[in-house]
Amino acid sequence: MVQQTQLGVSWVGCGSAHPAMVLSNTDLSQVVDTSDEWITTRTGIQQRYLAQGGESLSALAAQAGQAALEMAQVDATGVDLIILATSTPDDLFGSASQVQAALGASQAVAFDLTAACSGFVFALVTASQFIRTGAYRTVLVIGADMLSRWVDWTDRRTCILFGDGAGAVVLQASDRDRLLGFEMRSDGTMNDCLTLAYGSEPQTLMADKTVQQGTFQPITMNGKEVYRFAVKRVPEVIEKALFRGGLTAGDIDWLVLHQANQRILDAVADRMGIPSERVISNMARYGNTSAASIPIALDEAVRSGRIKAGDVIASSGFGAGLTWGAAIFEWG
Ligand code: ACO
Repeated sequence: MVQQTQLGVSWVGCGSAHPAMVLSNTDLSQVVDTSDEWITTRTGIQQRYLAQGGESLSALAAQAGQAALEMAQVDATGVDLIILATSTPDDLFGSASQVQAALGASQAVAFDLTAACSGFVFALVTASQFIRTGAYRTVLVIGADMLSRWVDWTDRRTCILFGDGAGAVVLQASDRDRLLGFEMRSDGTMNDCLTLAYGSEPQTLMADKTVQQGTFQPITMNGKEVYRFAVKRVPEVIEKALFRGGLTAGDIDWLVLHQANQRILDAVADRMGIPSERVISNMARYGNTSAASIPIALDEAVRSGRIKAGDVIASSGFGAGLTWGAAIFEWG
């Protein structure tokens, strides 16, 4: 009889990186009509890191990936697959290959995955399927975004929210499967609640033939709708993922949610009966870093010793699409 081994997923390393420049709420109040008091009270954000000219998404992603590989004690040439979750690539054809080159991960196939703020959870789940089928043994999953590139810096309803950053984890095949449950959802009927859409003008090639050329337009968001959606859908999707793993909210050691708004984190924890000391939050320093927010929060909590091997983590991403998803896993 053929014995199936090593078809589970384990978490063996994490890392993160952010640009050097800090923009505080007080700084922002010189850019748009806002105040530190309004932003802190409504969102919990106090500052964010923003990329400056010359800083690239792929370099930031590679920095986070390198840190994760070092923690995992895995050489870059041992990586089989790199998935880069991002909505803000340096190159619309994809930036994962540039990350692969920067890391020297010569044996890895690399591709981008776009699902906005759900991107990291969707990438984790995607990576896990390759490991569970036995196709790949070592996968680097990176969430990285530079939404500062696409924010309308005259729109105070959105520009106060976002920051730039990257976070990564290394997943490896193991006998025991530490991905305990997951659930992913999309609802395109609500797409217009949060967009970074392409806009174009006709360009005439010849008398009866035109093409469209343009660029992406700055982020638009119906904040109230997205807030309502998150507070309702995130607890639901976590409950579903827990159910799939035969677990309940009482089994969760740490809630690591997409860092969009402190009030969303508080409301989700409250609905699920999870005490606030079990909720990881770092948005005061980072703002909303989109696909990077979960792995950055995870990395900080692991490095500070809060999250330990064997702890059960419920992570959930939500955002544009609309998309949302949850992955429940045991760290280690
Ligand atoms: N400073 C001062 N006043 C402001 C600001 C600001 N930065 N922004 C809005 N206001 C004003 C508004 O003009 C409004 O004034 P009015 O009552 O005179 O018209 C008032 O404050 C209230 O505005 P709301 O938009 O109703 O504020 P709300 O309490 O909904 O908070 C916020 C806005 C923080 C954006 C909230 O709706 C939110 O967090 N939504 C969720 C966003 C989110 O989670 N996105 C995640 C996905 S991101 C991704 O996928 C890329």
